Amino acid sequence: MKEPFHLGPGSGLPGWMESLDRRCFGESWGALAGHEQAWGSMDEAFAIWSIHAVVEEAELLRIAVDPDLRGRGLGRGILKACEAELERLRIRALFLEVRVSNASARGLYKAAGWAENGLRKAYYKDGEDAALYRKELR
Ligand SMILES: CC(C)(COP(=O)(O)OP(=O)(O)OC[C@H]1O[C@@H](n2cnc3c(N)ncnc32)[C@H](O)[C@@H]1OP(=O)(O)O)[C@@H](O)C(=O)NCCC(=O)NCCS
Repeated sequence: MKEPFHLGPGSGLPGWMESLDRRCFGESWGALAGHEQAWGSMDEAFAIWSIHAVVEEAELLRIAVDPDLRGRGLGRGILKACEAELERLRIRALFLEVRVSNASARGLYKAAGWAENGLRKAYYKDGEDAALYRKELR
């Protein structure tokens, strides 16, 4: 994996990240809000987080790997890099929610040591449930 770089609050997403976002989710995230930060490995993968430093928590909002590069450890790699950066920011607990049908993402979270800790019924607009995950950092 290429060395990940950081995007702080207020940054727009670079072109490659926008186009990967559109390819994966059919829309682009837009500029990062005041509590959002992202890390990206150029042309490969990115992850966007909502960071709540006061309560030492962060939520994974979006993670994506180029469809042509999946299954090679890039998802695991960007998550690991983000976790190291979040630890440095003194974040202690990580959260996320994901569609129950998203087997690849759920496989990644499990492999990366996240624990499933609940279900939100009919969380998405189309009625699908969300699985909730949590991970403690040191
Ligand atoms: C989820 C995603 C980021 C995984 O990225 P990736 O680079 O393919 O994942 P990795 O190669 O790092 O895989 C790490 C682990 O995740 C699990 N995993 C990956 N793909 C999987 C799949 N299709 N099915 C089940 N488990 C899978 C495996 O346990 C894997 O470890 P292993 O290779 O030792 O078996 C990628 O599939 C993606 O971009 N999906 C579309 C966007 C998305 O849905 N994001 C999540 C919601 S925001």
